[in-house]
Amino acid sequence: MRSNDVREKYLKFFEKRGHKIISPAPLVLETDPTTLFTSSGMQPLVPYLMGEKHPEGVRLVDSQPSIRLQDIEEVGDNRHTTFFEMLGNWSLGDYFKKDQLPWIWEFLTKELNLPKEKLYVSIFEGNELVPKDLESKEIWLSLGVSESHIFEYGVKKNWWSRSGTPDQMPVGEIGGPDSEIFYEFTSVEHQHEFGSKCHPNCDCGRFLEIGNSVFIQYKKTDKGLEELPQKNVDFGGGLERITAAINNDPDIFKTDIYWPSIQKLEELTGKKYKDNMASFRIFADHLRASLALVNAGVIPGNKMQGYILRRLIRRMTTKFPEIDKIIDNTVIGDEIKKFKITLNKGLKEIGKIDKITGKIAFDLYQSYGFPLELTVELFKEKGQEVDLEEFRKEFEVHKDKSKSLSAGVFKGGLADHSPGVVKLHTATHLLLASLRKVLGDNVVQMGQNITKERSRFDFPNSRKLTVEELTKVEDMINNVIKRDLPVNFAVMPKEEALKTGAIHAFNEKYADTVKVYYVGSDLESAFSKEFCGGPHVAKTSEIGHVTINKQEKIGSGLLRVYVVISNQK
Ligand code: SER
Repeated sequence: MRSNDVREKYLKFFEKRGHKIISPAPLVLETDPTTLFTSSGMQPLVPYLMGEKHPEGVRLVDSQPSIRLQDIEEVGDNRHTTFFEMLGNWSLGDYFKKDQLPWIWEFLTKELNLPKEKLYVSIFEGNELVPKDLESKEIWLSLGVSESHIFEYGVKKNWWSRSGTPDQMPVGEIGGPDSEIFYEFTSVEHQHEFGSKCHPNCDCGRFLEIGNSVFIQYKKTDKGLEELPQKNVDFGGGLERITAAINNDPDIFKTDIYWPSIQKLEELTGKKYKDNMASFRIFADHLRASLALVNAGVIPGNKMQGYILRRLIRRMTTKFPEIDKIIDNTVIGDEIKKFKITLNKGLKEIGKIDKITGKIAFDLYQSYGFPLELTVELFKEKGQEVDLEEFRKEFEVHKDKSKSLSAGVFKGGLADHSPGVVKLHTATHLLLASLRKVLGDNVVQMGQNITKERSRFDFPNSRKLTVEELTKVEDMINNVIKRDLPVNFAVMPKEEALKTGAIHAFNEKYADTVKVYYVGSDLESAFSKEFCGGPHVAKTSEIGHVTINKQEKIGSGLLRVYVVISNQK
């Protein structure tokens, strides 16, 4: 069966069961500055899973293109990709387990005719906070899944949130236990290096996870997990993997999604897929991801999404420098041509060098734009190993000068997301709220820059603050810190956020849906509420004692103040 037929059958199946087909969200989510790409079907639906009304109703179905960069190193095996299409069905506080699990089972076994004996499921085994998911187990048993095909796992495998296990979830994040479905490829022999016994979550490749029903019913608060006002279902199934299961072939790259591009590359290079699997797979995945990014309007560059696109294109070009001959997309083609010039210069340099030290790897990175992983791979081919520790040291030394990816990712004037910076970030929200209370509503953020050492904040004020004003502001901030107020966020449409009285930076553009961070137990009476992408401390007592240690007039009627934390906890 072709992947297009699988997608169509899926959408129709759920449409017949009262779901509205919704269009996929863009791959680059402008509404969420905390992330580079849409990485799951649920991401664009977070506000609705939290209770906001979706214009299309409470039952939705879609197919969402997604990118997960954490899997980039795994690409090359039979099942991992950076780009994939996730088939999703959603209950926004409507149906729950006893409808959803039978439906997805019917879809897989009746609509797609996957043999029952090859399907396995898993459920959440429970922990001190959330009980074992016996209800799902009962449902699977009632559907004819045998006890030996039902496995129980803990939070690492059967809990889903965007940030991982419950303890990794920031306050405000939603998630819940899940029940996963796996397909067993009996042609794959279990490898004992992965463990003595094979099981659905074994990494040997015999089992492939093809779907995941997440029961999103919890929200993280400063007290732990709290039940959401509505119980949701978030099902996600990989289109590529489901198609591979239908073919009963464990190699997802043999599906019609990737196979034509692999065949074309075989023709061009004269090399065979079966002899160069990892390289061919990296090419097939990265090409598909690159095309999706270019279609989403991304241009190769040095920062953010552009940097990722450049990295994908460069990585596949290193594998097969001749690929520009079979790619007719000009954005990708031009980038390959440019990179090949760089690559040749770099290769010449490498040819002259006997031993590639970490410092040389760093120079190649800086001068020729060789990403470290490419350098490592090329040297490996030369039978050399790069001293990664030394590379990292060099990288640290030059970090400020080089435009590192992370420097581009973090918005809002934050140097990074280290604990010290996060504390100062929350302290800066308290500073702005206090300045407004002491000096008036004309205080707005005109600039902000936060490093590990201090926060710098600019606002309109034609004169310096008096000692009394400074003391008042500092006391107000430290008083809030002592009261140990929670810091939460809410995601909502911009119009609604403005109505709450939340303040925002004067000179920034915001998307239609925004995050409002507030300090206090509820949004309405919060001490501070601001449009912001985060991150922040969970409770104000984590900040320590705040001092305004310097102020200076910087022209155009602006005052700049510096804030430090004197006794960090
Ligand atoms: N949110 C879950 C996942 O991404 C299911 O859609 O796996």
